[in-house]
This record gives sequence, structure tokens and C-alpha cells, in this order.
Amino acid sequence: MRRSPAPIRPVALVDAAAVAERVASLLLADRLRPERPLGLATGRTMAPVYAALARRIGALDPVLAARLRDTWCSFNLDEYVGLEPQHPASFAATMARQVVEPLGLAPDRVRLPDGLAPDPADEARRYADTVHRAGGIGLQLLGLGLNGHVGFNEPPSDAAVPCRCVALSARTRAQNAVDFHGDSSAVPRHAITLGMADILSARRVLLVVTGAEKASILRRALREPPTPELPASWLQRHPALTVIVDAAAMG
Ligand code: GLP
Repeated sequence: MRRSPAPIRPVALVDAAAVAERVASLLLADRLRPERPLGLATGRTMAPVYAALARRIGALDPVLAARLRDTWCSFNLDEYVGLEPQHPASFAATMARQVVEPLGLAPDRVRLPDGLAPDPADEARRYADTVHRAGGIGLQLLGLGLNGHVGFNEPPSDAAVPCRCVALSARTRAQNAVDFHGDSSAVPRHAITLGMADILSARRVLLVVTGAEKASILRRALREPPTPELPASWLQRHPALTVIVDAAAMG
């Protein structure tokens, strides 16, 4: 008889600050004994995580911190198409501000898709190949979109979709308008994202969700049968998924 999988129990912490501290500890532990590259995400959820990580690295023994910096290897999930890397809302600029500079990393150790590549579809294939040749993702850090996207895998996204160039939904562009002075028409229409297939083949997945506005989509993602209409729901099938949430996202 086939047993149904045990329900996923999120690790619920008091508030977003506690979540950031816990996630930063997990990232630090991963980087002190790296097996495979780290998969990184951008977004408001991650900003305090990276700030906490920078504080922890700053407090490390200098020899250990130097080793961590010398062995750092990470790949971001996604990048907007057509945005200069110097544009403050590009994920390249976000990573430079939140990760490369505060952690003291060499910029080429933090990789992202090239949003200015002349052929985005080709760039998506090249990026996936680079991740693959680096051994695939070890620990994949994920935020959650209000429409259930992870990375920029917008609904509908099947579990097998590869790294590719995608059209962003009106909802996602509205969600991210805050980075473009509130003007959703300024948010790029396309992005390159690692696919659900790449995310699901990471060795471990860490889904981080904070804030009351995500409570309902999080509950659906973890409880409803997996469906392309809610891409985060495919994470239920991952054998090593950890979900860290604050009390507000727990609902
Ligand atoms: C963005 C990103 C995702 C991110 C998610 C949640 O659009 N592409 O990688 O995790 O949406 O963002 P936030 O943390 O700002 O709510």
C-alpha cells in the first residue's frame, strides 16, 4: 500500500528578523563546507537574510572568513531581460549591493544570467549549462511570489520546465513595481529564470516566506495537490525541502 506523504511542517519563527537570522545560519553552515554551488534568490524577503549573513561573516575568525570568500560559488535564480546590470533594480545590482560588497566577495563568484544577452533563449541555455558543469545546485534558497511563482516560474509551469526566457505576469510586474518607483509599466516584460527542473534537482531546497500577504498562497502551495497553476506546489515533491516562515506567513 502506498502511503501518502507526511504533511510538510514549516519551521515557524516569531518574526521576519528571526527568520533572517535562522536562514543566514543555514547559509553560513553550507558555505563553510561547500559541496555544490549555492542557489540564491533576490527580493524583499532575502534582503535581511543577506544582511544577517554579512554580520555573521564579519564576526568569524578571519582565516575562516577568508576561506569562505575564496570558496564562494553561487548562481542566482533569475534576472530581468533588457535591464542594464547597473540599473538599481536589476538583480545583478541587487546582488552587488546586498551580497558581493557586504560579504567582500570577488564579483565573479556570484553569477547571474546575463539580462542583456542578445539572444535571451540562448543565454538561458548557456546559464543552465554553466550551473550543470559546476555540479548543479546544492542548497537552493527560494522566496515565494504572490501568485505562487518561484524564481520567475510563473503559472502555469510544469515540474519539468528548464531554464528559459519567460514573460512576466501583470501580477508579478505589479508586485515588483516597488523597485521601479511604483511604476509597474517600467518593470521588464521578460526574465531569464532557472526552471522548475533545475530547482527540483537541487540537493536541498530552503523556502523562505514572511508576511501575512503570503499566508494564503503558502498554505495552498504546501497543501494542495501539485499543479502547474501553482509552481511552488511542485516543491512538495522535493525530498529535502525546508520551509522557514514567520508567524504572519503561518496565518
Ligand atoms: C521575485 C523573484 C523571486 C522572489 C519572489 C518573492 O519576483 N523573482 O525570486 O523570491 O519574487 O519576492 P519578495 O521576497 O520580494 O516577496
